[in-house]
Amino acid sequence: MKALVFQGTGRVAWQDVPDPAVKDAADAIVRVDAVTLCGTDLHIVKGDVPEVEPGRVLGHEAVGTVMETGGDVRAVRPGDRVLISCISSCGRCRFCREQRYGQCRGGGGWVLGHLIDGTQAEYVRVPFADLSVHPVPSGVDSFDAVLLADIFPTAYEVGVLNGAVRPGDTVVVVGAGPIGLAAITTARLYSPGRIIAVDLDESRLSAARRLGADATAAAGEEPEQLVADLTDGLGADVVMEAVGVPQTFEMCTRMVRPGGRVANIGVHGKPAALHLEDLWIKDVTLTTGLVDTSSTPMLLRMMAAGRLPTAELVTHRFELGQMEEAYDVFGSAARTGAIKVALGGPQHTAVDTAPATGTG
Ligand SMILES: NC(=O)c1ccc[n+]([C@@H]2O[C@H](COP(=O)([O-])OP(=O)(O)OC[C@H]3O[C@@H](n4cnc5c(N)ncnc54)[C@H](O)[C@@H]3O)[C@@H](O)[C@H]2O)c1
Ligand SMILES: [Zn+2]
Ligand SMILES: [Zn+2]
Repeated sequence: MKALVFQGTGRVAWQDVPDPAVKDAADAIVRVDAVTLCGTDLHIVKGDVPEVEPGRVLGHEAVGTVMETGGDVRAVRPGDRVLISCISSCGRCRFCREQRYGQCRGGGGWVLGHLIDGTQAEYVRVPFADLSVHPVPSGVDSFDAVLLADIFPTAYEVGVLNGAVRPGDTVVVVGAGPIGLAAITTARLYSPGRIIAVDLDESRLSAARRLGADATAAAGEEPEQLVADLTDGLGADVVMEAVGVPQTFEMCTRMVRPGGRVANIGVHGKPAALHLEDLWIKDVTLTTGLVDTSSTPMLLRMMAAGRLPTAELVTHRFELGQMEEAYDVFGSAARTGAIKVALGGPQHTAVDTAPATGTG
């Protein structure tokens, strides 16, 4: 089969690799019908995620068709259309039993496209398939559902739930990339009083307004003053960090009101200062987290009910074989305006579960 292979810092290629095969009785082999790229993939290519070895097939978000299952898999069968979660779950360890799948100690967690071959391929082996894939309700488009593999559960769990957004709250989302935009969408499920988005890029801020931000501020235009002005100088009830750099994290902790919540979503590569000399007296709650994807079944039901607007987020569509071009477009978002790029082909309209070569 063909797959997108990480070849070392700065290099990826869409190339021939061996077809995946069932290795463990809990595995499923899934044919990839819709797949997206993530900012994390760009970090891997830049060399920021050293655990990813050259030769690794990247990708941790996809929707596909189950082709084959190991003998222990009960929840899905060949022919089923499934969402592949960015987080795999052994189901047995202490953390999985608390639905904290992101912290799985039994071989799951974020493994796809990281520690094992991932979804940017024609086929993928998914471990612990019973808990790591989700049947997609009929009527839900694969190119919508694929947004629930990572960005929606991340924004919802690590941003909205950790930030405990409540009706009437003033919510600030710093960073209006795919995650920040999904945080705006899912924060609205709780009827906040006002959502303020902050970004450097005007096209991202206009996407934020289309998705329901009430006010936006360019990072250079004194967003802290805007938040102060809109809250009688008090600060926001909830501030979400969806960038991952020290300046934005520190800004979030200055924007929160006494008794408010700062939910960090961003992946940080550098130390950020925690100004306890200012914060100790403010009763502030600060949360961090890796997504668990425990909310994915609920988000799929909301999507099936038409209650989760997602269409705005996929700005570019490609055939699977155009993977390298998709990386170029996604990697130059400031120039191309890309938010999410999705790949998949009309070649996969019929469900054909005859074993693919090498998977049986
Ligand atoms: N915690 C988790 O489980 C988890 C999961 C997935 C992704 N993430 C992280 O969430 C973060 C957001 O992901 P994304 O895919 O939306 O990333 P992205 O890079 O596409 O978006 C980040 C946005 O922040 C903006 N930005 C950059 N510097 C800024 C600044 N100084 N002030 C204001 N805005 C600024 C950019 O213009 C961009 O729109 C990343 O750090 C990503 O690694 C976390
Ligand atoms: Zn991701
Ligand atoms: Zn586990």
